[in-house]
Amino acid sequence: VKSISIGLLGLGTVGSGVVQIVERHQDKLMHQIGCPVEVTKIVVKNLDKKRDIDIDPAKLTTDPNEVIENPNIDIVVEVMGGIEETRNYVIKALRNKKHVVTANKDLMAVYGAELLQIAAENGCDLFFEASVAGGIPIIRSLVEGLASDRILKLMGIVNGTTNYILTKMTEEGRAYEEVLKEAQALGYAEADPTSDVEGLDAARKMAILATLGFSMLIDLDDVKVTGISNITEEDLEYCKRLGYTMKLIGIASRDEQDKVEVSVQPTLLPNSHPLASVNDVFNAVYVYGEAVGETMFYGPGAGRLPTATAVVSDVVEVMKNMRLGVNGNRFAAPQFTKQLKSDEE
Ligand code: NDP
Ligand code: HSE
Repeated sequence: VKSISIGLLGLGTVGSGVVQIVERHQDKLMHQIGCPVEVTKIVVKNLDKKRDIDIDPAKLTTDPNEVIENPNIDIVVEVMGGIEETRNYVIKALRNKKHVVTANKDLMAVYGAELLQIAAENGCDLFFEASVAGGIPIIRSLVEGLASDRILKLMGIVNGTTNYILTKMTEEGRAYEEVLKEAQALGYAEADPTSDVEGLDAARKMAILATLGFSMLIDLDDVKVTGISNITEEDLEYCKRLGYTMKLIGIASRDEQDKVEVSVQPTLLPNSHPLASVNDVFNAVYVYGEAVGETMFYGPGAGRLPTATAVVSDVVEVMKNMRLGVNGNRFAAPQFTKQLKSDEE
């Protein structure tokens, strides 16, 4: 049986997890797709870097063309981050008829519509489950599980780093900088953690969720954003004394006229609120659908294995589609033209 060959762009927190899941869960993957899966080539920036997983050095390269132009590679997994350079690699991979799985919300929030169009034109899948809320299968839930409903509201904690920082500052009275460093060491934060703490990472995820949930193109510029970098231990101590918990909350809502509003901001929640007890690196997304009513999704929002699980599950879906010959068909074109509530004012 021919094995499926994966080319990885990136071998950091998420990329290393992908290698581990593919190795450790080979039996499960074989059962799901009927043939072996192997990571055969991996693009990194620094060939000499010490890695904390065993990897055959012959698989490593600094040349992305060894993956995206390699005729032996079936699926490109992009876990290197970045926007412009990465967009070019993804486009090239799709035009070379390679399916692409990415964890990159920065890329998908800015160029998602364009890339999905190119994927469809080339009969390729472009999946991005890991780009929002790490290990929670929220994109699949919106696009498939709730496909028949009219989604009216999405709300939640979609950044693990800031939730970790706020939790440790609140519960342990620790300083912001110290906890941020810890979140970086644990692999939760972005390469430049400014996007986490200033709310941009959460804004990108809310733009992706709102686009999929409301079936209209929501740009990053449409999201009102405030981060947590100005919040002090004293602010949090005060909230605690009043019986409230501070969380960085993303909200996307849609009214009867299909006008939408999307924002990310630190929010005071009464301790009895379900989102108030979502702590550490955990994320939670509340989805309100006209027919289904209230649903809530909870799980680890960042970190090596949880995120890699979402990435490899996308790989499985690509492979199932390959077997059925239906690649490139998953995402419907947006149904509604965006109208923002702020345009009314
Ligand atoms: P890391 O910084 O840990 O890893 C990035 C990897 O990409 C490294 O192996 C690096 O090489 C390689 N790389 C970076 N730039 C280049 C380049 N220009 N050319 C070649 N190789 C390059 O990132 P993460 O694994 O944390 O994140 C990867 C992606 O996944 C990002 O888009 C992130 O937003 C997303 N993500 C991350 C999550 C997490 O919990 N960390 C969760 C969900 C999504 P080298 O090792 O040699 O430095
Ligand atoms: N930096 C991101 C977070 C990684 O902390 O949520 C997961 O997308």
